[in-house]
Amino acid sequence: MICLDNKRRIHVGATARNKSNGSGATMVVIKRVSIIGSGYMGSGIGMASSRGGYLVTLMDIHADALTKALRRIRARLQEVYVDEEDKIQEVLQRIRTTTSLEEAVKDADLVIEAVTEKLGIKQQLFKLLDTLSSSNTILASNTSSLTITEIAAEVSERRKTQCGGLHFFNPISLTDIVEVVPIAETSNETLDLLMSYVKGIGKKILKCKDTPGFIVNRVFVAYTGQTFQMLERGDATIEDINTAATFVRKMPEGAFARWDNIGLDVVLCVLENLHERLPEGDIYKPTTFLRELVAQGKLGRKTGEGFYKYDVSEDGDVPAMI
Ligand SMILES: NC(=O)c1ccc[n+]([C@@H]2O[C@H](COP(=O)([O-])OP(=O)(O)OC[C@H]3O[C@@H](n4cnc5c(N)ncnc54)[C@H](O)[C@@H]3O)[C@@H](O)[C@H]2O)c1
Repeated sequence: MICLDNKRRIHVGATARNKSNGSGATMVVIKRVSIIGSGYMGSGIGMASSRGGYLVTLMDIHADALTKALRRIRARLQEVYVDEEDKIQEVLQRIRTTTSLEEAVKDADLVIEAVTEKLGIKQQLFKLLDTLSSSNTILASNTSSLTITEIAAEVSERRKTQCGGLHFFNPISLTDIVEVVPIAETSNETLDLLMSYVKGIGKKILKCKDTPGFIVNRVFVAYTGQTFQMLERGDATIEDINTAATFVRKMPEGAFARWDNIGLDVVLCVLENLHERLPEGDIYKPTTFLRELVAQGKLGRKTGEGFYKYDVSEDGDVPAMI
């Protein structure tokens, strides 16, 4: 459990919720996490939260979704804690379920919305959460493709300071990143608490601006979008596209170090060629920043500088992939 004092210092292990700390300041504590929408992601967020020591309420409009969520969580826990029924029970006993939104949020310090990916539904829910939640409750969304700003558009100005994004990845028990997304109005206190919660469940923070798709999905969907196009045009088989996708995923350096290794002059030519030749060429349009680097002779590892700086004596001739 995590609390924040009036100097915004984080304390782990606090048990009090919103109590005076003796100095007159209100302590904000994340102790109970309520998850609204208990489908695939909601159940995973619930399990991760409970394993992190938080008290969890799973809420869904469908009672059978809650039954399935508990069944799914038990099955995942049995994979994690093989033959350790005590540990499984310990995690499960911190989780309660309800179909009542009022009941779910009444004592929640953090509410994480994981309902259907439709703006109207999320917006309406946030508006309701604003009125039903206590004044200190933080509201977060697990949206994959909408902005938090549009989802929180209809909540009060005060509540906007307590809104943000927490974007998890599937399967949650096997992925170690959560995107944390402040909006323009998010207070530093809220951001600190959101980040502390993510650390509390043992995940790494990827801090993002509030743009549709944040970071990971824009990278992922950019390449999955192409897989659909290639298959539809008969450019390659599903099997070969899968092999290519797996190869790309295993590249050790990430994107920008890879561009530097290839050579930015080569990358620029490749992008220009794809831009001119493919029907969806616009997605390859070279950016001004890339053109500037090339014009300045900053071509990557081979010239000692690109997106990163290099010791040229160390490795001047790197084989390019393309
Ligand atoms: N599936 C993924 O890999 C993934 C990854 C990251 C983020 N997300 C996002 O998480 C959210 C949920 O996705 P999912 O895959 O868990 O969907 P899902 O369909 O498995 O679950 C959604 C649940 O929300 C419930 N629900 C709908 N409206 C509700 C409401 N008003 N109040 C309470 N419950 C309601 C539904 O009954 C359902 O059980 C979406 O915003 C999605 O974009 C999904």
